[in-house]
Amino acid sequence: MADVTHEIWKKLFCGDLAVCPKKSGADRVLEVGTGTGIWAIEYAEKHEGAQVIGVDMSAVQPQWVPPNCSFEVDDAEEEWAWKSKFDFIFARSMIRSKHDWECLQDDLFPVCSDDGTVDGSNLLKWATYIIEATKKMGQSVTVAPQFKQMMEDAGFKGVVEVQHKWPTNHWPRDERYKEVGRWSCVVASEGLEGLSLALFKVLGWTVPETLTFLPEVGKDLRNVRIHGYWRVYTVYGQKPA
Ligand SMILES: C[S@@+](CC[C@H](N)C(=O)[O-])C[C@H]1O[C@@H](n2cnc3c(N)ncnc32)[C@H](O)[C@@H]1O
Repeated sequence: MADVTHEIWKKLFCGDLAVCPKKSGADRVLEVGTGTGIWAIEYAEKHEGAQVIGVDMSAVQPQWVPPNCSFEVDDAEEEWAWKSKFDFIFARSMIRSKHDWECLQDDLFPVCSDDGTVDGSNLLKWATYIIEATKKMGQSVTVAPQFKQMMEDAGFKGVVEVQHKWPTNHWPRDERYKEVGRWSCVVASEGLEGLSLALFKVLGWTVPETLTFLPEVGKDLRNVRIHGYWRVYTVYGQKPA
């Protein structure tokens, strides 16, 4: 599913791998929390002159990669051992990973709608429970709107925030957003049970209680009369030399 999510991001970015000026033309690139490495591999394939390193705590990346791409297993929150500087550092979908945030891109819960069709839905209730549960666990899934300020406070210059709407299914008329919605519905439906079982127990829900509620959420997720979307944030900036 991570690779489907990668395609959704590219669709939102009109085929590009990022929205910042370094989406092409960087020499030394680091992807923090690279996961399957799909972003790093694709950046390396598209930019043969760039050296791309992907770092992750889990060694889940493939062994066969372009010659200008490599992976390292490390905790990016520990002191960095790299001797040379990077001119492009990218991180994506790290929102539930840790408590400290830098240049990140991620979703904001809860789900919203511009015409009120999400109001009172089980989908909105579900998203609200997710926020409650993650708060109880000391995580925050609603931190994305603060990323710009955080980067500015950390000294980054020229910080830019780009927002996109990530539809809950194929309800939009616009073809690009229709396709994003189609895929996002697949990703959300696939992840619904695992995520909810893991988080709702924090709220004291039993497994049968959670499993009884989820089909109703699934119905709302697929309902094209509910014009829901997740607002997703991409933030970039320059670290002063
Ligand atoms: C949701 S996945 C996203 C993967 C990838 N960025 C993508 O968009 O497909 C988050 C990844 O971040 C990694 N991660 C979380 N905290 C990390 C840390 N402190 N250092 C390195 N990797 C980390 C996890 O192991 C996981 O592979």
